[in-house]
Amino acid sequence: MGEFIILKRTCLYFFVFFLVYSSVYGPRVEAWSKEGHAMTCKIAQNLLEPEAAHAVQMLLPDYVNGDLSALCVWPDQVRHWYTYRWTSPLHFIDTPDKACNFKYERDCYDTHGGKDMCVAGAIQNFTNQLSHYRHGTSDRRHNMTEALLFLAHFMGDIHQPMHVGFTSDEGGNTINLRWFRHKSNLHHVWDREIILTAAADYYGKDTSLLQQDIEGNFTDGIWTDDLSSWRDCDNMFTCVNKYAAESINIACKWGYKGVESGNTLSDDYFDSRLSLVMKRIAQGGVRLAMILNRIFGDGQQQEDLMAAT
Ligand SMILES: *[C@@H]1O[C@H](CO)[C@@H](O)[C@H](O)[C@H]1NC(C)=O
Ligand SMILES: *[C@@H]1O[C@H](CO)[C@@H](O)[C@H](O)[C@H]1NC(C)=O
Ligand SMILES: *[C@@H]1O[C@H](CO)[C@@H](O)[C@H](O)[C@H]1NC(C)=O
Ligand SMILES: [Zn+2]
Repeated sequence: MGEFIILKRTCLYFFVFFLVYSSVYGPRVEAWSKEGHAMTCKIAQNLLEPEAAHAVQMLLPDYVNGDLSALCVWPDQVRHWYTYRWTSPLHFIDTPDKACNFKYERDCYDTHGGKDMCVAGAIQNFTNQLSHYRHGTSDRRHNMTEALLFLAHFMGDIHQPMHVGFTSDEGGNTINLRWFRHKSNLHHVWDREIILTAAADYYGKDTSLLQQDIEGNFTDGIWTDDLSSWRDCDNMFTCVNKYAAESINIACKWGYKGVESGNTLSDDYFDSRLSLVMKRIAQGGVRLAMILNRIFGDGQQQEDLMAAT
């Protein structure tokens, strides 16, 4: 009897904890899941040239042993903390409902009208901050480690199609539905469900095998011929606009298409969207590496990259 009461009380504590936890971490969730971000960052780090690899190593805290992917989800963890609350709008872009396009001037601001406060503005901002690192001309007010983590994370976010979604449904967050048998929402399906279902169905839940399969597909596989066009980038403003436009385009054609609140999404949806999710993770990683190689490398390209911003 006594044990039973203790058990009940423990349950109550967990329940209260859960309520507090979910009010802190809800409702507009997150980004590519930690799995998606980690894969994007691992793919990128594997493509770094020696100078960029060294710079990244120098910027990372010792405890991660040079592994960028260990901290790629950090911006999602701190966005609810008081000091980092300003970063919250930097994870996404709200575009007008049904417009299915992205216009920087129209869409890249936060709810208080703060200009450039969206994921496309943030990527330019942190690329710009990091581009001074190599010359030792960094603004002391800027923390270069944080700039690296933000850039790496936001390159993942901008490639998640539902992160450039419609305003009224918060990028699919308010479209509640079922993913196979459990409750989810459309945003979360693209953040996490598709990745986890793929890992469970085809890779024995091992996301490092999934990541290697993605890498194989651009090294010597279905995307090999596309690799150089993914990397094409004359200046950051044009490039982030392109990445965001690709995302809202996919969100319209494949994310929202045919989906309503209350639906159950299962095999049909999974099978037809899986390769797109994998391609976006690949593109995010390849393009993050391209940016890091250019801002930390000693070529002439760096000046060009930020020239028009
Ligand atoms: C750029 O970064 C600085 C801090 O490093 C921040 O104050 C500013 O709001 C950021 N702007 C954008 C658009 O990310
Ligand atoms: C930069 O930011 C990291 C992570 O927030 C922090 O641990 C570190 O102390 C900061 N470095 C400086 C020089 O402020
Ligand atoms: C890689 O390409 C193969 C062959 O087309 C495909 O079956 C597989 O699903 C792809 N894997 C990923 C992770 O994209
Ligand atoms: Zn995010």
